[in-house]
Amino acid sequence: ALITLRQLLDHAAEYSYGVPAFNINNMEQGLAIMKAAEALDAPVILQASRGARSYAGDIMLRHMVQALAEMHPDIPVCLHQDHGNNEATCLSAIRHGFTSVMMDGSLEADMKTPASYDYNVEITAKVAEAAHAVGASVEGELGVLGSLETGEAAKEDGSGAEGKLAQDQLLTDPDQAADFVSRTKCDALAIACGTSHGAYKFSRKPDGDILSMTTIEAIHQKLPDTHLVMHGSSSVPQELQDLINAHGGDMPQTYGVPVDEIERGIRHGVRKVNIDTDCRMAMTGQFRKLATDRPSEFDPRKFLIPAMEEMERLVRDRYERFGTAGQA
Ligand code: G3H
Ligand code: 13P
Ligand code: ZN
Repeated sequence: ALITLRQLLDHAAEYSYGVPAFNINNMEQGLAIMKAAEALDAPVILQASRGARSYAGDIMLRHMVQALAEMHPDIPVCLHQDHGNNEATCLSAIRHGFTSVMMDGSLEADMKTPASYDYNVEITAKVAEAAHAVGASVEGELGVLGSLETGEAAKEDGSGAEGKLAQDQLLTDPDQAADFVSRTKCDALAIACGTSHGAYKFSRKPDGDILSMTTIEAIHQKLPDTHLVMHGSSSVPQELQDLINAHGGDMPQTYGVPVDEIERGIRHGVRKVNIDTDCRMAMTGQFRKLATDRPSEFDPRKFLIPAMEEMERLVRDRYERFGTAGQA
């Protein structure tokens, strides 16, 4: 059945676990996630970006997620809008069956320019009021995702600010977070701690200078009852980089968020952990491998089956390590 983010994260907080939120764009990603969740009895957050909504279409996404839930009647599923850029995006998601929306007011509606605090409070509060009136949940974001190494947002996908960001924009301020949650009434708060979207988060294995888990700890101290959200939480596994590069890929060496750092976050109030890049890499590694191992193959299913299996393995690992397994 479809449930809200609030219901799901309240349970996660009560039992001290985290829930990975996986981005989906197509049926195969949905099948892989649900298979893993069913095997491990884990609750599910499926999130669709604006890009996913235009790729698959709202009607397709809605029916696809309803079908996945119907195939797995004992697994709670939340359908969440990832990085909503304005009220219209969030409200149209709710109209299309999403049970939760992210109003990302950390950036202006263009998603490129850092927003003022007042703008962020105002638009997030407005969306929360409208969403709550129809029983949907809202995630807000305070602080701009981006690299503490370079002061820049990761560039390889569309989302993220342009130009240099100051250190105080890149790390969420705990006092401001407390004010933000009380004024907006958001159900979950995405924070900035040095992670960014995409594969190129860190040029070296991150330490406390470039991945600030202490920021999360300080926010959790101020806001012990607020569900925190970590974006940009792919770990960009070395094996997947190596597999892709061994089969014609050309990904420069990069480092993601170590899973044990996410586990540390979960001990300090992180309840939702956003993962897209790792799933993309899991699938792409298998596409590339099959293409080189069997150059005569042209049936897409022969590519998609191992890709789904690899993604399912990754999803299972995160359900186990975040403590989500057994909580459905
Ligand atoms: O927020 C970033 C997610 O990885 C979604 O990416 O906008 O390319 O679908 P996308
Ligand atoms: P990754 O690019 O690290 O997977 O982050 C995804 C994300 O934060 C989606 O909102
Ligand atoms: Zn994100």
